[in-house]
Amino acid sequence: MSIKQVLDTIAASDKGSVDRLIDWLRIPSISTDPAYKGEVRRAAEWIASQLSDLGFKVEIRDTGKPLGAGHPIVMATVEASASYKGPHVLFYGHYDVQPVDPVSLWDSPPFDPVIKPAEKGGPGERVVARGAVDDKGQVMTFIEACRAWKAVAGHPTNGAKFTVMLEGEEESGSANLGDFVQRHKRELGDCDVCLISDTGMLGRNSPAITYGVRGLAYTEVTLHASNQDLHSGMWGGRCPNPITELARVLAQLHDKKRRVTIPGFYDDVRPLGKAERAAWAKLKFNQKAALKKIGLPPAADIGEAGFTALEREWGRPTAEVNGIWGGYTGSGAKTVIPAKASAKVSFRLVADQDPRKITKMFFKWCKDHTPPGCRWELTDHHGGFGVTVPTDSPVLAAAMKALKAASGRQAAMIKTGGSIPVAGMLKDELGIDTIFMGFGLDDDRVHSPNEKFEIDCLRLGMRSHAHFIAQLTNA
Ligand code: BES
Ligand code: MN
Ligand code: MN
Repeated sequence: MSIKQVLDTIAASDKGSVDRLIDWLRIPSISTDPAYKGEVRRAAEWIASQLSDLGFKVEIRDTGKPLGAGHPIVMATVEASASYKGPHVLFYGHYDVQPVDPVSLWDSPPFDPVIKPAEKGGPGERVVARGAVDDKGQVMTFIEACRAWKAVAGHPTNGAKFTVMLEGEEESGSANLGDFVQRHKRELGDCDVCLISDTGMLGRNSPAITYGVRGLAYTEVTLHASNQDLHSGMWGGRCPNPITELARVLAQLHDKKRRVTIPGFYDDVRPLGKAERAAWAKLKFNQKAALKKIGLPPAADIGEAGFTALEREWGRPTAEVNGIWGGYTGSGAKTVIPAKASAKVSFRLVADQDPRKITKMFFKWCKDHTPPGCRWELTDHHGGFGVTVPTDSPVLAAAMKALKAASGRQAAMIKTGGSIPVAGMLKDELGIDTIFMGFGLDDDRVHSPNEKFEIDCLRLGMRSHAHFIAQLTNA
């Protein structure tokens, strides 16, 4: 069976691929918001039926405690041909999406996908919708490659052994995935390697393999003071204002060098190697241009002292305040000292930091910094380990070859500052390494209003997966 026919099929069914993606994007599968539980399941059912049409054996499995409390996981398998000798590949993706707020900043409704034409000096032709690049569009690059292989060879992966696992809780911390992996250890353990399209490229026309993601520890802290809101005239200057006190504490999270001050925070950090730093420097990443795109001047290139922007994103741990609130935030003015103030605080982690240990350290640090007369309420939301995978494995080499064949360009080896919890779980529980072959761009507005996936990225993704299957099956 020839890869040429498969590529021709992909090119010929371009519009169909985009239309199918748009159908999927119409389903508002926001996993973090219980109001969308039914929609999340509908998105699972939609993709399950696609896989089933392609000849996969598909099951929608419930998760959570009690079973069904979580969002379902779509599992699909396809038998290998008798002659297949290659690896059993686990393709992982997620069909849930982030919330859409602030909805007023969207140029079109987030679940009413639109195709926008290319702009000179700006983005190319693209589909705009929540989930476009993260991760429905990227999952579709694989699905549509399977569709083309099925049309040409009668088998969606040309006889290669594949299992597909599509999660519905990635964007809300993969709370039930660890348990699911535990319970399906035998089935998943039969896989040799995991393949994920949920990352980005180095740039337009610059494909990349991502060989590492960071870990994450996500918390929420509330500082309680008085047992009631107070008149700021009567009580201002007479008792703690929890907003001021919380801000004072959080401001101490970083020192003058912008290093995290929590004792022990860097203890387990694997230092950056010389060779790795040199390789990253060679990528000629343009931080100034990247800052400019998000409306910042060169002076905004700040972070932990002693490291470049790429090093800070890919190889160093950080602490972030994601949200902070308390008191009066309505229109007009109200004079008040509130009873409490809160913040969402998270940490991006690198090898070999343990998210549970970091959360513990942070909570102890909070307690050690308790403002006079105040009390903490501390919540551990979720966490996941960072992962760095070997860059010399045969399957990774096959992915590199596929990218080269699909794009005509040598793929760059990059890392990302983002997190994908499944990779750490598969490594720890089953010893399975992951290959991140992603097709996103820096300006895709992941998690933001007007999220997009460029049609050329969709095409490159479909072609790359088609070539990857060809690599596995010597086609
Ligand atoms: N696809 C992203 C991870 C990502 C983002 C990779 C940007 C490369 C570039 C993933 O869906 C994501 O958003 N992960 C969360 C994880 C969290 C909710 C546990 C993240 O990184 O914040
Ligand atoms: Mn994602
Ligand atoms: Mn995401």
